[in-house]
Amino acid sequence: MLEKSGEPGSLAEWYSKYLGKKGILRTLTSDVSDLAVEEKKELGRKVNELKSYLEEAYAGILNSVTSIKKDKPLENFYKTLPGKKPEIGHLHLITQAIREINEVFSKLGFIRVRYPEVEWDYYSFEALNMPKTHPARDEWETFFIDLPEDPKLGKVVITPHTSNGQIREMLKGDLPIRMLNISRCGRRQSDINHVPTFYQFEGLVIDKNISITHLKGVLEYLIYNFFGKDTKFRLRPYDFRFTEPSFEVDVTCGICGGKGCRFCKEGWVELGGAGMVHPNVLRAGGIDPDVYSGFAFGWGVERVLMMRTGLKIDDIRYLFENNLKFLEQF
Ligand code: PHE
Repeated sequence: MLEKSGEPGSLAEWYSKYLGKKGILRTLTSDVSDLAVEEKKELGRKVNELKSYLEEAYAGILNSVTSIKKDKPLENFYKTLPGKKPEIGHLHLITQAIREINEVFSKLGFIRVRYPEVEWDYYSFEALNMPKTHPARDEWETFFIDLPEDPKLGKVVITPHTSNGQIREMLKGDLPIRMLNISRCGRRQSDINHVPTFYQFEGLVIDKNISITHLKGVLEYLIYNFFGKDTKFRLRPYDFRFTEPSFEVDVTCGICGGKGCRFCKEGWVELGGAGMVHPNVLRAGGIDPDVYSGFAFGWGVERVLMMRTGLKIDDIRYLFENNLKFLEQF
């Protein structure tokens, strides 16, 4: 019974039943007038032995089931007092954001895939129309892994963007494509706007007759969904090698509402790039650019998260510091 009384309330009951003032042990020695002296002694010894055995067992169980100290009388244990709630964590903000992004895209028919984060140079650069030694590569401040080079695929890198997924997806040979690739990326960078490890999500759509209006429609849908209809966005002409034409997509800063702050400086925040897939990239993916066309975009998960109205996180590094005081607020 003692072992079974895992709950402190029933433990107290057990104690008073056996060892309490009116407990069974007391009654054993309460009426001994009929016994001879030797018998009394014998009984006394046995009862004492039993008592210390039970007390010890009781103390052991008490220690393991409650934090009440042995010297505190059990009568002071209030069964109805609320217990201590164990602390329960929650998903990290970034995981929450990834799930949400996934949900919004799945409504448009995008399918989430994953491709290697430790990647060959070929998929991260070369097949994306950036041959070896091309100066555009400098923009992706790349980490190289100290592993032997492959004669065809080149060096091993930590992929600096999710665009490696474009080629890998095309090479699956399954058309049309509506891909969502969310993955961790690495670049040699660190300030309030950048961290060496961050997440990107890459959208890729390839089909017949895909035009820039489709791209703009999808971007608008995303932006209104994530940031609300008050957010303005703009496409700035850019020059990615793997899209033509190319854009940077900016939204009005969710931290200052577009007035300008330490995070955005001028009221606009760059979410990432977008554009129409370059014919050379389609060719590298085994797709005929005369028949198919497509668009792609690659944005930072953390940026999207930080620009959400109301969060007002003005330093990206908070997201990676594992500071409970910060994380508990969400
Ligand atoms: N990969 C680009 C970057 O990391 C973003 C991008 C993706 C641009 C797809 C165009 C198309 O900056």
